[in-house]
Amino acid sequence: MEVVTDISSLRARLKHESSVAFVPTMGGLHEGHLSLVRIARERAGCVVASIFVNRLQFAPTEDFEQYPRTLADDCRLLAQQDATVVFTPAERTLYPVRQEFMVEPAPAANTLEGKFRPGFFQGVATVVLKLFNIVQPQIVVFGKKDYQQLHLMRELVKQFNYPVEIVAGETVRAADNLALSSRNRYLSTEARVEAARLYQVLTQVKRQIEDGNTCFHDLEQNAARILSQHGWKTDYVAVRHAHTLAPAKTEDEDMVVLGAARLGTIRLIDNVELRRESCAKE
Ligand code: PAF
Repeated sequence: MEVVTDISSLRARLKHESSVAFVPTMGGLHEGHLSLVRIARERAGCVVASIFVNRLQFAPTEDFEQYPRTLADDCRLLAQQDATVVFTPAERTLYPVRQEFMVEPAPAANTLEGKFRPGFFQGVATVVLKLFNIVQPQIVVFGKKDYQQLHLMRELVKQFNYPVEIVAGETVRAADNLALSSRNRYLSTEARVEAARLYQVLTQVKRQIEDGNTCFHDLEQNAARILSQHGWKTDYVAVRHAHTLAPAKTEDEDMVVLGAARLGTIRLIDNVELRRESCAKE
């Protein structure tokens, strides 16, 4: 595995590769990222993973400085997964001048995460487009854990006619179903136990919908109430159309229940998909 830090060396290295699968990351790698690398490995001869903590997607009040930077461990883990190249640019390499052209994301970026993290998806879309232009992959793998990000990246490549296939990787969970996240390492022992509740609450909403309850607003409010009773500060629990992320309608078949909430200073997100096979016939 090669570790490359500059753009011209990366381009020279990839010039003759006919199939490149790309996994963009911010490092702090865990089994969730590695599962995406394994998907990439199955799909292409050359697997590129990037590690870059992208300042553009952090608000000044967020944890850019504290975000885990574990490059040596990350490279060891990527080598174990047989990644071909790790691209770890310095900030001045990716942003040699102030980034003034920005990708203005689709309106779906202003809801859910975007409502609570203004500018987040503009920062994500801008760095992802830059990385696409540098790596020029045929395949890119994103995780379903960041469901809205995955949706917006699909829209980005569709609406800009970018010749790349986006592949979605399933969320990897701990034994108690907590979705793996780079930020989980900052949970206290007590908070780590409580953290599993987010998935439980979202799954409960999913079951209630599967049982025929279509009062989505009530289900969302009830889920948020349960979280707050257990000490969470809930940003949202939302039942959405799985493919558009518009608020769910009773006739929708494919849905997703998304949630974001804080335990102390740690903000967690998660989601569960559901398919109502029978509703078209009802
Ligand atoms: O999902 C992430 O880790 C980041 O948002 C991404 C896609 C690497 C862009 O910085």
